[in-house]
Amino acid sequence: MASIAIIGPGALGGTIAAWLAQNPGHDITLCVRTPFQSLRVQTPVGELTAIPAIATSANAVQAVDWVIVATKTYDVPSLEPWLQALVGAQTRVAVLQNGVEHVARFASLLPEAVIVPAIADIPASRLAPGEMVQQRLGWIVVPEGQNGADFVALFTHCPVDVSAVRDWTTRAWRKLCLNCAGAVSTLLMRSTGPVWSAEIEAMVRGLVTECVHVGRAEGAYLDDAIVEAVVEGARKAPEGAGNSMYADRLAGRSMELDARNGVIVRLGQKHAIPTPTNALVVALLSGAGSPWIS
Ligand SMILES: NC(=O)c1ccc[n+]([C@@H]2O[C@H](COP(=O)([O-])OP(=O)(O)OC[C@H]3O[C@@H](n4cnc5c(N)ncnc54)[C@H](OP(=O)(O)O)[C@@H]3O)[C@@H](O)[C@H]2O)c1
Repeated sequence: MASIAIIGPGALGGTIAAWLAQNPGHDITLCVRTPFQSLRVQTPVGELTAIPAIATSANAVQAVDWVIVATKTYDVPSLEPWLQALVGAQTRVAVLQNGVEHVARFASLLPEAVIVPAIADIPASRLAPGEMVQQRLGWIVVPEGQNGADFVALFTHCPVDVSAVRDWTTRAWRKLCLNCAGAVSTLLMRSTGPVWSAEIEAMVRGLVTECVHVGRAEGAYLDDAIVEAVVEGARKAPEGAGNSMYADRLAGRSMELDARNGVIVRLGQKHAIPTPTNALVVALLSGAGSPWIS
């Protein structure tokens, strides 16, 4: 039996929470900003429902075995009260977010030894608070070791592919190679495929090539072929195929721009690797805000 608190049960966190709640041995608490009563998730293998404990304040929770953080990266500074209440001597904290800086992002909030970085490829969206659609079963990877093995064990009852891998850094940078290219459709507010041109192709290729160079300097094993694979995917992206940064901009929310492109510029500077294309999209999107707000 494990006590598990999920901070930020939105599209991804709510989906994971519903899967974890299917194990009657788990004691699940959802730490929410916007309250709701229950979880209902449409998955590729049917509907999941659950009525876990729901906490709206850090005063209402206590130390648990596991915390899973599934907020957007830009919301991390607001999590300090939750973490202070939930993290005890035995607690591990899985950070289930995009990007490659899972440990660094929490360095001022948690001891490094308790952080379990997790990368997910589980496309999910939120219809309303507590109501999600999971488009594909997908996967989660964490680093090998005791913490990773214990995290994987939380999911043995569920068909999502959760595994511990030797080279987590490479997996995270491979995902970043895809995510960094999403800045182009976020700038255009259209899918890249229908408006494909030599200039857009050069921009996508530039973003991903820079990501590969910086990722290799950070210790990731990235094949040159990943660049053309991402370019090809962007060339074929049908109208309406967005990404979460595009959706955030459309909704006038903050964007995970720093975690997806800013990080390439910052770590590029550390290794003296030029990253002009990522720097350009960071500058443009930092100043852009919502397309609907003048
Ligand atoms: N969605 C996907 O398909 C997917 C796939 C792979 C990776 N990811 C990554 O997973 C992470 C989460 O993405 P998402 O799409 O699930 O985001 P999301 O739907 O926006 O969910 C984030 C949740 O965090 C909550 N939150 C924010 N600050 C909070 C706080 N201080 N206390 C409690 N809850 C708080 C939000 O509350 P409100 O309800 O008030 O907004 C929301 O429910 C991101 O890093 C994303 O890049 C997402």
